[in-house]
Amino acid sequence: PTIRQYNWTLRETESNPDGVWRPMLLINDQFPGPLIEVNEHDTIRVTVNNQMTNSTAMHWHGIYQNGTNSMDGTVGITGCPIAPGLSFTYEFKVRGQSGTYWYHAHQGNQASDGLVGPLIIHSRDEKQLQQLQYASDRIIMLSDHYHDLSGILARRYLAPDMENAEPVPDGALINGRAIRNCDDLPHRKCDNTTSNVGFPAFDLEPNRHHRLRIINVGAFAEFQFQIDEHELAVTEVDGTDVQPINYHRLNINPAQRYSVVVHTDKRERTKFRMRARMITHCFAEPNPFMVDSVQGVIQYSSNSEAKAATKLPDTMDWNEAIGLECKDLNTTELVPVQVVAAPTKVDAFFYLRSNFEIGAYRLSRGKFNTSSWRADVKSPTLFRSIDGLQAKNASFDAEQDKGPVFVNNRAFDQSAQLTIQSSGVQTVDILISNFDDGNHPYHLHGYKFWVLAQGHGYPSRKSLDGPMDLDNLSPLYESLDLSNPLRRDTASVEAFGWALIRFVADNPGAWAFHCHVSWHAEAGLLMQFLTRTDLLIDSEISEAHRELCRADGLEKGTGP
Ligand code: C2O
Repeated sequence: PTIRQYNWTLRETESNPDGVWRPMLLINDQFPGPLIEVNEHDTIRVTVNNQMTNSTAMHWHGIYQNGTNSMDGTVGITGCPIAPGLSFTYEFKVRGQSGTYWYHAHQGNQASDGLVGPLIIHSRDEKQLQQLQYASDRIIMLSDHYHDLSGILARRYLAPDMENAEPVPDGALINGRAIRNCDDLPHRKCDNTTSNVGFPAFDLEPNRHHRLRIINVGAFAEFQFQIDEHELAVTEVDGTDVQPINYHRLNINPAQRYSVVVHTDKRERTKFRMRARMITHCFAEPNPFMVDSVQGVIQYSSNSEAKAATKLPDTMDWNEAIGLECKDLNTTELVPVQVVAAPTKVDAFFYLRSNFEIGAYRLSRGKFNTSSWRADVKSPTLFRSIDGLQAKNASFDAEQDKGPVFVNNRAFDQSAQLTIQSSGVQTVDILISNFDDGNHPYHLHGYKFWVLAQGHGYPSRKSLDGPMDLDNLSPLYESLDLSNPLRRDTASVEAFGWALIRFVADNPGAWAFHCHVSWHAEAGLLMQFLTRTDLLIDSEISEAHRELCRADGLEKGTGP
């Protein structure tokens, strides 16, 4: 078996991705972090040496971690953070999945300070499964970019009376690169003449197909991506290969991935503009210093490896109106190549209401039903579960909903933190209603789920004031097409909208389910699934990992 070994040193340093200098957290002095590229069935081993002043943890977004839940890197859930000065080795095998993934710190908002990077898994039959053949394979990471450290922004955001006005990005980056006019930012230390700064550029051989793996590694903004005069054929969604479908513009929410295939077949010219716009009207408040897009260059060329350009070509934007809806691409148009029908029998159904509420001390907290999450850095759920935490047999949000819905299973509230526990393999449905005025990209760790339906307002029910249960929701359930729905790991629920997702709870461990807007997760918009707890075993947690939990300084960097 092949082991892919990576040695990372995490440091605090100053950098100027778009010209503006700011403190950043970097892996091996690189931004974005180094590429992890493996074949399916390989073992990934990453030694993380934390030379920062705060504790940290690395999470491998979308990786199943079957049998290695404690390597999921989720502070307070699957493990303890790595205290300053310590090292820890993550080791796990990738099985049963391939495609485009990424990694990021799962501690506070450290990801928005630079701790992000791509993780690509090639399957043996990758070329056959992809219905469009391609000559080259590229990564395009989109991110919103802030000129201040996340800790400063988070303290402001989570302060009393902030009414959930998320920090608005100062700009956007492609693969960690952009260029700002320093004259516009007199209050910032700025130098846009260093070699890392410029318009992001990609060389593509002419007359070929090229696969571009687009990853939104940002903290907050939804992006709309395009290449002037080139159609984007979407072929992969969060690791699921789909039948090619053409778009002019691609909307992508935080943590989502799409592969697109482009054809470099234009004759008139050799340089085209690439545009990634943040959909700013999804933001609560504008920022006067913000530049809302990053533009780059696609250049037809077989013999150079350009990364930055000094000017932009004048090519044609699409002339249709820019669709600026704050929601995902239409999921029903994206059809998996490998047909997998969703199970028809549902063992457990949960209705989750997500919202922001001003609560104690006038703080705005993100909530699932009445539960708001805070990481317990020293005593992660997985450890407590293995060490014999007995779930209180509390009913599932009893005041508002029907009691716990499945036999052998429990929904319990650990100091008002919603955790749903199951043993044995169960098919679980989650209906989420979003009562907030913002879009939430929800991510489930350890799984891909089927996106069964999404919509605005409420789903169709028999009686408008009846309970949100399977019986009352029969009109919605009867309308579902279970033959081959899209499987992905991050799906948005639009403002004042809803989504119905289904997954087969067969992966042993404690898994976070949360909004991937990092500000929202930090404000508590996170709950946990403890699945196949009958299979959780002690050997799951190594002595080295338990040692991490005993270190000093774990609380450092966990945010306000
Ligand atoms: Cu990509 Cu809980 O995260």
